[in-house]
Amino acid sequence: MPAFRSLHPFGTETPDADLRRLSDAGSADLQRAFYAHQVLAVRAQDLTAAQFLAFARRLGPPQPHVIDQFHHPEAADILLLSNVKVDGKPTGLQDAGSYFHTDYSYLPVPARATTLYSRVVPEVGGDTLFANQLAAYDDLPDAMKKRIEPLLAIHHYGNRHDLDEASRTAASPLNAQQKAKMPVITHRIARPHPVTGRKALYAVSGSSFGIEGMPDDEARDLLDELAAHATQARYQLRFRYGVGDVVVWDNAALLHSATLTDPKHARTLWRVTVLESGPRPVLT
Ligand code: SIN
Repeated sequence: MPAFRSLHPFGTETPDADLRRLSDAGSADLQRAFYAHQVLAVRAQDLTAAQFLAFARRLGPPQPHVIDQFHHPEAADILLLSNVKVDGKPTGLQDAGSYFHTDYSYLPVPARATTLYSRVVPEVGGDTLFANQLAAYDDLPDAMKKRIEPLLAIHHYGNRHDLDEASRTAASPLNAQQKAKMPVITHRIARPHPVTGRKALYAVSGSSFGIEGMPDDEARDLLDELAAHATQARYQLRFRYGVGDVVVWDNAALLHSATLTDPKHARTLWRVTVLESGPRPVLT
């Protein structure tokens, strides 16, 4: 069993796991840590694309990102995140997810986990913020818990707080074909975690644009009130990367946001997102 250290105010990290040689028992240890702490960091790895993908597959079936121009050339399930340009051309998706959201909440079967593998760490910045939606739900007044219990939020691809496609804090722009693939769907706002059953506030910022059966302005006010509550500093973990770090987070339990990095400081990560469908993970 690898040694784990707590991150603050939640999350856990281990400096002594090697994801190239992960046994089934070692994978079960990491999964237990992941579901108990919502963010798991495995420090200082040296992985090929195939090894990184094999680790992500342990958590669920990968879903390639709709933005297919930045898929890894050896593995379409890996999305390249980068602010590096070569001959003026981007080598990856820049500024992806620079607002609080949860991955694939705009899909009918959303993301179970996202894992990032940090390849180039900027000299300054480049952290990822996480906000704990289990704690945010627990802290709601009983009257609010009762109010949101039956409610379904309406989701589609985008960031409801920033719709300007030229903005660094909007959702990454899609082309016409990619937009045509994106559905409008609903998810519960007070959503039981699909593995642990614990309720969390689900995707109250990011892709939630309305609430079924509620006038738009009332729905928007309620979502904004919940988002302001859910993203308070006391629910946030700021994760700082070292080269080779693999971080994996629980999308049913968290919101997360990239932080804007000065483009003069190179930052590159590989990303795989796995869906909630597929076999339930081993938790015993
Ligand atoms: C993401 O939201 O997938 C990207 C997070 C990051 O780059 O820090």
